[in-house]
Amino acid sequence: KQPIMVGLLGLGTVGGGTLRILQNRVEDIAQRLGRPVQVKKVLVRNLQKPRPVVVDPALLTDNPADILEDPEISIVVELMGGIHPALDYIKSALKAGKNVVTANKDLMAVHGRELFELADAKELDLEFEASVAGGIPIIRPLKVCLTANRIEELKGIINGTTNFILTKMTQEGSDFGEVLKEAQALGYAEADPTADVEGLDAARKLAILASIAFNSRITLNDVYVEGITKVTARDIQYARQMGYTIKLLGIAKEIEGKVEARVHPAMIPDCHPLAAVNDAFNAIFVKGDAVGETMFYGRGAGDMPTGSAVVGDIIDVARNIINGHTGRISCTCYHQKPVRPIGE
Ligand code: NAP
Ligand code: HSE
Repeated sequence: KQPIMVGLLGLGTVGGGTLRILQNRVEDIAQRLGRPVQVKKVLVRNLQKPRPVVVDPALLTDNPADILEDPEISIVVELMGGIHPALDYIKSALKAGKNVVTANKDLMAVHGRELFELADAKELDLEFEASVAGGIPIIRPLKVCLTANRIEELKGIINGTTNFILTKMTQEGSDFGEVLKEAQALGYAEADPTADVEGLDAARKLAILASIAFNSRITLNDVYVEGITKVTARDIQYARQMGYTIKLLGIAKEIEGKVEARVHPAMIPDCHPLAAVNDAFNAIFVKGDAVGETMFYGRGAGDMPTGSAVVGDIIDVARNIINGHTGRISCTCYHQKPVRPIGE
């Protein structure tokens, strides 16, 4: 049977994990779908750079048109990061009738609505599970499994880099700058790690989660943001003496009918489950009126965990292509009138 053709935009940390999983699971995926999924081209900036995964050099290109204008490619997977040129490439892909999978929270937190309008107009999939909390399933659970609930509160650790830094500072007394370098070497940090340490990455993820959870339309500008750069070794030490652990939290809740969203360091009692979430792990509590409290936990960054979420989306989109899109799950907050307003 004809393979479903995929074009990857980017082959860095997440692109490498994604390609490795697609290679490792090629037969299982073909069996599951009844058709193989094949990577036809991979866009990179530098064709000479060593790659984190074995890749046929003939697959690599530095010309986006090789993917965006190839009629055989039906799924474009954007793993470059940043707004430009990723936004233009995703728009071009959608306009050309290609489904899109992305891990790009920068884009989704600001341009989610216009991208969904484009995708909807063409009846295409736009999936972004990997954009929040790496390998943890959280977008689909909010979009599908928990929609019976009125969500009251969502809170958690949604940035792996800062959690890694705070863990090492707390447990080993490590120096902030040294641990940040370690997080970068492990592939956890953003290209510009300021986004991680200043809380912007967590704020983008919170905007995405809160929009879906509260059926509202929250963008980065609606989130109060404070990062961890002002947290000192002494703060951590004092907190520990009092039985607390400092964590960077993202919190969104409904207050008097309006949604409030904020990211800031917080003192967590050592007995609270969030205090035990260490290294680059993430954890998200979601409280709904019917289900009560739920918690999602796992690796929030890194090549293979994030690749796991990306490949899950690719398989889902491929299944929809095979079924003639009968299984599309829309994300109402982005393309209908939002239900709940945003607080000041
Ligand atoms: P990365 O390691 O920096 O990789 C980016 C890739 O995109 C590189 O292969 C780079 O090419 C390519 N690229 C960038 N700009 C390009 C351009 N203008 N033209 C062609 N190719 C370009 O980034 P990453 O950590 O994999 O992150 C990718 C995306 O996933 C980001 O949106 C990030 O926020 C998101 N994400 C990351 C993680 C994580 O743990 N790292 C987790 C969840 C989501 P070269 O290799 O040739 O330079
Ligand atoms: N830089 C991000 C983090 C990657 O550290 O959580 C995962 O989104």
